[in-house]
Amino acid sequence: MTPVAQAIGIDIGGTGIKGGLVDLDTGQLISDRVKRPTPDGGEPDDVVAVVKTILAELSQAEDTAPVGVCFPAVVRGGRTMSAANVSKKWIGLAAEQLFEKSLGHDITFVNDADAAGYAESEYGAAKGVDGLVIMTTLGTGIGSAIIYRNLLVPNAELGHIDIGPHRDYEKYASNLVREKKELSWKHWAARLQTYYETLERLFSPDLIIVGGGVSKNADDFLPLLKLDTPIVAAALRNNAGILGAASLAAHGSGDRPSTGAEHLVRATNETAPVTTA
Ligand code: BGC
Repeated sequence: MTPVAQAIGIDIGGTGIKGGLVDLDTGQLISDRVKRPTPDGGEPDDVVAVVKTILAELSQAEDTAPVGVCFPAVVRGGRTMSAANVSKKWIGLAAEQLFEKSLGHDITFVNDADAAGYAESEYGAAKGVDGLVIMTTLGTGIGSAIIYRNLLVPNAELGHIDIGPHRDYEKYASNLVREKKELSWKHWAARLQTYYETLERLFSPDLIIVGGGVSKNADDFLPLLKLDTPIVAAALRNNAGILGAASLAAHGSGDRPSTGAEHLVRATNETAPVTTA
């Protein structure tokens, strides 16, 4: 079978929803990056409607490409199982099914940080790293992906760990918190220092990657961190979610050579028990 050459990735975030058509060999966007604001309240039907307009725009370029969608929640068996920074209506929702019905197209539906981490391991800073990589995204919340020898362990939620007096550390150290509290880079870096030191102690990673929109300012805060583990900015910057969602969708179609990603696809397509954590 001919490998799939292109796929569409759509990255749903707390403030914006963005998508693009991706060349899967190079990991480059080959369409414009289409971006719309996330509807107020982030309710499922409203979000689906926006994704529909983005897909319609991108499908003009390529209407047979696999479609991957990533979302800021735990995703098991196509269901969204948490809702830290989105409407609580997503908890326990059969989201993949909802999107497929409304878009009239099969999709692959995964966690946003998992998509970003997967893209970094395929095309970016984690490519060829033969060990344990922890990808973190600093945005509205803190997202995380654990990748061991190119195999993604899905649904790590390391942004929600408690450290010292700080329960749910993303509420203390996300980029949104930095903006809202107008923290200086130095002050924010002190919060991040505690966070990454903790990850280092718990996981002994070989590489830590820092993504999210603020990674474009990495020079302002990464040099302030003192860790034993190498820590670098995401090579794919804020496109990592789009690229990873697209790439996982293509792997899910079974048309591309095995790289380990099919484990993630298999895991996320399994029927999972519904919980309302
Ligand atoms: C969510 C994660 C998500 C991260 C980044 C967290 O609040 O629990 O699932 O990956 O935000 O968007």
